[in-house]
Amino acid sequence: MVEKHKFLVYRNSGNGKSHYDKFEFPVSKGMSILDALFYIQDYFDSTLAFRYACRGAICGSCGMTIDKVPLLACRTQVSTVKIAKKPINLPEFKFGDHPDWDPDTEILVEPLPNMTVLKDLVVDMKPFWKFYREIEPFFERELNDIAPESTQSPSQMKKIERLVYCILCGLCWACPVSNKNPKYLGPAQLAKAERFISDSRISNEKQRSILSRVLKDDAVPACEKFFVCNRICPKGVMPGTAIKDIRDKNISER
Ligand code: SF4
Ligand code: FES
Repeated sequence: MVEKHKFLVYRNSGNGKSHYDKFEFPVSKGMSILDALFYIQDYFDSTLAFRYACRGAICGSCGMTIDKVPLLACRTQVSTVKIAKKPINLPEFKFGDHPDWDPDTEILVEPLPNMTVLKDLVVDMKPFWKFYREIEPFFERELNDIAPESTQSPSQMKKIERLVYCILCGLCWACPVSNKNPKYLGPAQLAKAERFISDSRISNEKQRSILSRVLKDDAVPACEKFFVCNRICPKGVMPGTAIKDIRDKNISER
């Protein structure tokens, strides 16, 4: 028998006013939250706005808040939302009043926190990309590095492997520091900075340049060690640990 599920979806046409729409429909086996949003578009309301691209947890486009947890919609199954283990001690994410949400029977779908809503589940990622560019996330090869490829040993690769997995989904911006300080560079950006600082192929000059940015007040020193980012990240990047590593490195080099 095909089971019906209820959804409560945040709506906002970008004019500052928001409300929640309820939908109820049959859910087939293996249906993801992203599939459910397509179903809503196809059968109930074609104006529902949300982002996606790969549908395979790679592009990082479909980040949203599901039952008060920032998640990738394409990787979250409808049938497991209510039974999945949730990250502990998350901040309270509020997007507007939804006094009639029944957490036992309704799946609540909201945008990512700490970003401006453009429409429904689509948030403005411009600040995220602006801060991302500030950490200079690209290689500059050393002048004496003349090989066609810059090689690394397995142990050198191991140092940055976890950090390379970041898909820039923005889920970690659910950080309480990002909430109160719009100038805070952000967990993903700092994890990316550590990814380049620790890369054996990067020049000292480039390393110093990235460090000079991330050691400013609104970057590494602003992190209050909530580690919400570590608990939320869908790729195991552990940005909070990367921030700690930058801090430790800086202290030991003084
Ligand atoms: S660190 Fe994790 S949560 Fe943050 S943007 Fe990268 S993949 Fe997403
Ligand atoms: S659609 Fe690409 S990560 Fe979900």
